[in-house]
Amino acid sequence: MKIISMAALVVVLASSVLQSTYAATYTVGDATGWTIPINNTDFYDDWTDNKNFVVGDVLEFNFTTGQHDVAEVNETAYDNCITTNPIARYTTGPASITLNRTGEYHFICTVPRHCGIGQKLSIDVRTGPSTAPTPADYEVGDDYGWDVPPSNSSEYYPSWANRYEFKVGDSAVFNWTGNHTAAQVRNQADYDNCNTNATEITLYAVAGVRVPFTTEGFHYFICTVGTHCEQGQKKMAMKIVSMTATLVALASNVLQITYAATYTVGDTIGWVIPTGYTELYRNWTDDKNFLVGDILVFKFTTGEHDVAKVTEAAYNACSSVNTILTRSTGPARITLNIIGDHHFICTFADHCAEGQKLSVEVRNGPRTAPVPGTSHNTTGTPPSPPSSASSLVATISLVFMSIGIQMTGAVAISHNHTVCHR
Ligand SMILES: *[C@@H]1O[C@H](CO)[C@@H](O)[C@H](O)[C@H]1NC(C)=O
Ligand SMILES: *[C@@H]1O[C@H](CO)[C@@H](O)[C@H](O)[C@H]1NC(C)=O
Ligand SMILES: *[C@@H]1O[C@H](CO)[C@@H](O)[C@H](O)[C@H]1NC(C)=O
Ligand SMILES: *[C@@H]1O[C@H](CO)[C@@H](O)[C@H](O)[C@H]1NC(C)=O
Ligand SMILES: *[C@@H]1O[C@H](CO)[C@@H](O)[C@H](O)[C@H]1NC(C)=O
Ligand SMILES: *[C@@H]1O[C@H](CO)[C@@H](O)[C@H](O)[C@H]1NC(C)=O
Ligand SMILES: *[C@@H]1O[C@H](CO)[C@@H](O)[C@H](O)[C@H]1NC(C)=O
Ligand SMILES: *[C@@H]1O[C@H](CO)[C@@H](O)[C@H](O)[C@H]1NC(C)=O
Ligand SMILES: *[C@@H]1O[C@H](CO)[C@@H](O)[C@H](O)[C@H]1NC(C)=O
Ligand SMILES: *[C@@H]1O[C@H](CO)[C@@H](O)[C@H](O)[C@H]1NC(C)=O
Ligand SMILES: *[C@@H]1O[C@H](CO)[C@@H](O)[C@H](O)[C@H]1NC(C)=O
Repeated sequence: MKIISMAALVVVLASSVLQSTYAATYTVGDATGWTIPINNTDFYDDWTDNKNFVVGDVLEFNFTTGQHDVAEVNETAYDNCITTNPIARYTTGPASITLNRTGEYHFICTVPRHCGIGQKLSIDVRTGPSTAPTPADYEVGDDYGWDVPPSNSSEYYPSWANRYEFKVGDSAVFNWTGNHTAAQVRNQADYDNCNTNATEITLYAVAGVRVPFTTEGFHYFICTVGTHCEQGQKKMAMKIVSMTATLVALASNVLQITYAATYTVGDTIGWVIPTGYTELYRNWTDDKNFLVGDILVFKFTTGEHDVAKVTEAAYNACSSVNTILTRSTGPARITLNIIGDHHFICTFADHCAEGQKLSVEVRNGPRTAPVPGTSHNTTGTPPSPPSSASSLVATISLVFMSIGIQMTGAVAISHNHTVCHR
C-alpha cells in the first residue's frame, strides 16, 4: 500500500511569474528504505525509473538513526563517494528533503563504504505541472479484470493496488465476465474475514461498475460470490484526500496560499428546489465563513438542475440571461477565487424563484492553521462533513526563493503523478 503525502509549493520562477505545483512525497527505496542495497548496487538507480520528480516533491529517506545518514553532495562527490564537506547532511531518520529547485540532486550515505556499495541516489528534478490534475479511472486488475486471481493469490489485487496512487476524485472500475460482484466492506477485519453479510456491505453487482473514491483512507473490496474472496478476489486500495491550493496575490510583496475548505451546498440536501422553506440556502450560509480558495460543491442531478454564477442583479431577479459561468453537470465544483459577493442560481424553469439560489460573501483570512491530525482519518469510510477545519493560510514574503509547505496529516493535494496514469 503506497501512502503518499502531498505538498503545495509556490515557486517564484521569475520576478513576475508564479507557479503553484502539485507535489508528491516519495519514500526513497519504498519499503526497503535508505540502506545498503542487497545484491544490487543499482538499486536506487532502478528505484528512480518511471519517476518524474518535480519541484516541490519531497524525498523521505527512511533510515535507522546512527546506522546511516543522508548527505546532499555535488556530482563529483557522488561519483567518487567523497563524504567530506557535503552540501547538507541529515543524521536523523527519517529525513525529509524538499526538492526546491530544478536540476540534479545527488545524495549519498556518508557512513564509510556505504556509498561505494550502492547507498547513493541521483535524481533530476524538473518544473512541475502548474495545474491541478483531472481525476483518473483505474480499471481494477488492469487487463485481468476483477476475477479470482491466478493461483488464488491473495497478493494479486493488493499488489495491483500498490502500483497506483489513488486520489480523492479518482474511481475504481470493476469489470468482469462470469459470476462476480464487487462489494465494499467496512474495514480490514471484514476484508480479512470475507464478510459478505448483505447489511454490512455496499454491493455493486453489475460488471463495469465505477466506484468513485470520495473519502480518504483505506477502501476494501471483495467479491461476494461463492468462495471467491477466500480465493483471493479482494482488493485493498488506499487514497488520499484532495486539497486545492490557491495562490492569491494580496499585495505586490505578499503572497497568500490558502488551503481551502470544501463545502457541499445544502449539505445532505444538496442543490435542489427547497421544499417548504425558500430561505434554505440563505440559512445554510449563516454559520459559515467563506474564504478565498474555498470550494463549493453543488450536488444535483444532471439534467434536472444546473448552477450558474450570476451578477447580483441577476440573482435578485432570477435572470439566467448573461450568466458568468454555467455548470450543467452535477456535482459541480466551483472555487471561490476572489474576494466579494458570489451569486449562484439554478437556471431551470422557475427553480431560482422557488429558492434554488445562493449568495455567499468571500473574505480573506484571518486563517488559523489546522491542528495536525484532526482531519486525518484513515480508518473512516463515511464522507467527511463539510468543514472549514482544514483551512490554513501561509502568508509569505515574496523573496526569490521557493517555499514548500508540507501538509502532512491534514489535507493533501491531488496530483497528476505520472505513475498514476496508464
Ligand atoms: C539477493 O540474492 C539472493 C540470491 O540470489 C536472493 O535469495 C535474495 O532474495 C536477494 N535479495 C534481495 C533483497 O533481492
Ligand atoms: C521506515 O522504516 C521502518 C523500519 O524499517 C518501518 O517500520 C517504517 O514503516 C518505515 N516507514 C516508511 C514510511 O516506509
Ligand atoms: C564537490 O564537493 C567536494 C566535497 O564534497 C569538494 O571538495 C569539491 O570542491 C566540490 N566540487 C565542486 C565543483 O563544487
Ligand atoms: C531547499 O531545501 C533545503 C533542504 O530541504 C533547505 O535546507 C533549503 O533551505 C531550501 N532552500 C530554499 C531556497 O527554500
Ligand atoms: C495529466 O496526466 C495526463 C495523462 O497522463 C496527461 O495527458 C496530462 O498532460 C497531465 N497533465 C499535466 C498538467 O501534467
Ligand atoms: C483455488 O481455491 C479453490 C477453492 O479454495 C481450490 O479448489 C483450488 O484448487 C485453488 N486453486 C489453486 C490453483 O490453488
Ligand atoms: C448481518 O449484519 C447485521 C447487522 O450488522 C446483523 O444484525 C446480523 O446478525 C448479521 N447476520 C449474520 C448472519 O451475521
Ligand atoms: C468490460 O469488459 C468487457 C469485456 O472485456 C468489455 O467489452 C467492456 O467494455 C468492459 N467494460 C468496461 C466498463 O470497462
Ligand atoms: C452466482 O453465484 C451465486 C452463489 O454465490 C448463485 O447463488 C447465483 O445463482 C449465481 N448466479 C449466476 C447467474 O450464476
Ligand atoms: C436554519 O439552519 C439551522 C442550522 O444552521 C437549523 O437548525 C435550522 O433548522 C434552519 N432553519 C430552518 C427554518 O430550516
Ligand atoms: C474516523 O472514522 C471512524 C470510522 O468511521 C470513526 O468512528 C471515528 O470517529 C473517526 N475519527 C475521527 C477523528 O473523525
